[in-house]
Parts: sequence; structure tokens; C-alpha cells
Amino acid sequence: MATKVVIGAQWGDEGKGKIIDILAQESDVVVRSQGGNNAGHTVEANGVEYKLHLVPSGILGKKTLCLIGNGVVVDPKVLLEELDMLTGKGVSVDNLRIDLRAHVIMPYHIVLDNLAERARGKGDIGTTGRGIGPCYMDKAERIGIRMCDLFDEEEFVQKARANTKIKNQIITKIYGGEPLDADCFIPQYLEFANRLRTYAADTSVLLYEAIQDNKKVLFEGAQGTLLDLDLGTYPYVTSSHPVSGGVCVGCGIGPTLIDECIGVMKAYTTRVGKGPFPTELFDETGEQIRNIGREFGTTTGRPRRTGWFDAVIGKFAVRTSGLTGIALNKLDTLSHLPTVKICKGYEVDGTPVSEFPASLKELSKCTPVYEELPGWDEDISSVRSYHDLPQNVKNYVSKIEELCGCKVSMVGVGPGREQNIVR
Ligand code: GTP
Repeated sequence: MATKVVIGAQWGDEGKGKIIDILAQESDVVVRSQGGNNAGHTVEANGVEYKLHLVPSGILGKKTLCLIGNGVVVDPKVLLEELDMLTGKGVSVDNLRIDLRAHVIMPYHIVLDNLAERARGKGDIGTTGRGIGPCYMDKAERIGIRMCDLFDEEEFVQKARANTKIKNQIITKIYGGEPLDADCFIPQYLEFANRLRTYAADTSVLLYEAIQDNKKVLFEGAQGTLLDLDLGTYPYVTSSHPVSGGVCVGCGIGPTLIDECIGVMKAYTTRVGKGPFPTELFDETGEQIRNIGREFGTTTGRPRRTGWFDAVIGKFAVRTSGLTGIALNKLDTLSHLPTVKICKGYEVDGTPVSEFPASLKELSKCTPVYEELPGWDEDISSVRSYHDLPQNVKNYVSKIEELCGCKVSMVGVGPGREQNIVR
């Protein structure tokens, strides 16, 4: 198959980085199509750890063309810091291209993100405060500044000044914050433009040509299905579309050009921030999963909430992204538990609920109905073939396939590339 999408199938942090890194090795083109530097992939190569937030993981491959699509929001300062980090470690970034239609995160986006989150108080939605949401808001309001504007000095200066004037009204009058002086940051942004110009392109054209040439293309997802602006646990969602459909709009290609769609899941569930989480564990098992699975955010360091695998969510991801396969990570984290549970459905006051509800109020009333399976005591981190996994692990995987309605095509028994078992 020539074109493959990899998405997060839960609430993000499923270990997409590892799967993307493995698949990027065999890809000619790697594309990011949504989100911004609120995502964080940790990739290990030759004993060196790289924390990537904006640059596609394919950058570690010498010949891989890496595209930042039109659906991504770009903080030019963060992108340049990431490029400097990579070149500092000897990684060439010559094969990077940034789409001219991608929107630019401006200083007022970051200020507004933080002021708005602070004003929400206890009702905060847990944003990373990097200006991503406000940048997407400007895109929808049709006042956003795109990369093509950044490279046009006259256009950029005019738009940056006009927008700052509007944003200062909100910053000062609504939030009581300090106004920004556009002329203080404009020279710095023009400097960013000078450095980034060399990477600018119409990436939809490059991508289309690559697909016509039968090149292997990997679409690298960020965040996860339940964080999707439309389909996720609204309002605790991100401002973009992490489901597979987001790929088409976010990099300017049609759905018929996508061959395969892999949903990455963890063998249990985690969630960062607020909102209902039916299978959440508040006991020692939850603590054990958090510590053994090192469930602390890559970008923010926040501890993640942990719980049993939820097949209602799995089934939801299979449907909403048309998954052709599941990559099931972190099975090793569940070793040594006497039994393991999988949520096969919910109940509200004794009435079965089989599909993931739209309303968070309804979700918060859902109690999980579990299937309990025997655990496994073996350390499975050194197993390299599916055949050699303990029978109880295979039974667990088969139950997940049955309940989610999709084949588990890869399983993860550790963070290393070699610890990913392809079936
Ligand atoms: P987001 O795009 O922010 O959602 O990130 P992500 O999906 O790439 O996940 P993230 O990098 O935040 O977390 C995954 C962590 O789990 C990394 O430290 C990985 O090295 C690690 N990891 C991935 N697969 C496995 C696995 O099978 N077992 C274990 N023990 N760790 C794994």
C-alpha cells in the first residue's frame, strides 16, 4: 500500500511517535496535516532521543521529503528552534517543506490563549497555552495570517498591525491584560520569514505528484480521535481534526488517495485534563499503570489519568476514521496484573449504551460493563514474534479485535523500534 494514515485512536499519547517513526523509515514522504506545537512525539534513533513538536518524524531519514501541510498552525519561533535542535544533532532539515497556506501563530494568540484559560478558572479546558486555539479561531474568522502573508512583507506588516489593534481591545478590555505593540514583534517575525522562506512550498502539489509517482506516503497524525473538534469529547478537545478525515483537508488531497488507515491505541486508556472518563481507575492498579507506563505528558509533564481499555472508544475510532488496522501499544505495561479488564459497553441506570455518547453529561453517567480476562505474569518486553507471546496476551488482543471490529496489525511490547511486533 502506498499511502498510509496513522492516527491516535483514543485521547492522544497512544505512542504514535514510535509507530510513525517505524513507518517513516520505509516512506518517501511524511506529512503533518493538523495541530501545531501542542503535539509531542518522542522518537529514539541510534540511542539519541528527539522530541519533535512540529517537524514530521521522517526528518531523521536522509532522503525523506517532510511536509508541513496547510492544516497545521505554525509558530515560526518554535519551528526554527526545532530546526536548530535537529541540525545541532547532525540531522539535515533540507528536505522540509512548509505549506504557504498554513496559518502562523502570532504573539497575540499566545497571550489570548493564556488569558482566556485563566479567565475560565475552574472551567478551564486544559489548553497547552501555545496559541493554537486562538490561531485556528482567526482562521475561521477569516483574519488569520498565513505563511504566504509572512513572506510578503507589506501584507504581513499591514495584517499584523490591524490584527494586533483588534486583539489589544480584547486583551485590555475583556481580560484586563497588557496591550501588545506590533512594531516590537514585527521585525522578529520578518527575520523568521527570512530563515523559513527556503522551506516554503505548495505542499499539496508536491504531495499529489509524489502519489502519482507511486511514492510511499505516510500521514502522521497528532493528538487523538476523542480530541477531534467535531467528534471528540467537546469542549475538552483540540481545535483541529485528528481523525483520518482531517488528513484530506489538512494537506489538500482527496480521500480516494488514501489506501490504509492505522489507529494507534494503548492496551489501556489514558486521558490528560478534565472531562468524564468511564473506565478511569482511582486505585493502586491505576497508579501502577501510570508509573510503569510512565504516563506523564511529553510536552507539559502533566500526570495522565489512567484506566482500563475501553472498546466503546475503540469501536468509535474504527468507525469515524475507517481504520484498516490497530497498532496496540504498551502491552508490556499490563504485565504482572492478576486480571485485566476490557470495557465492552456502558450502562446508564441499568440500560445498555453501546455507542460513545455525544453529550458529556450522558458520558459522565455511563458505568462500564467489563469483560474480565486472566492477566499474564511474564515480562514480555523481549518477545519479538507474535507467536511467542503468552496465550493470555493473545487472548487479550483477540478480545480487543472482536469488540472493536478491526484487526490488531501491530503490538507494542516496549518503546523501542524493535519492540514493535508486526503480525
Ligand atoms: P501525542 O501525539 O502527543 O499524542 O504523542 P504520542 O502518541 O506520540 O505518544 P507520546 O510520545 O506522548 O507517548 C508515548 C510514550 O510511550 C513514549 O515515551 C514512547 O517511547 C512510549 N511507548 C510507545 N510504545 C510503547 C510500548 O509498547 N511500551 C512501552 N512501555 N512504552 C511505549
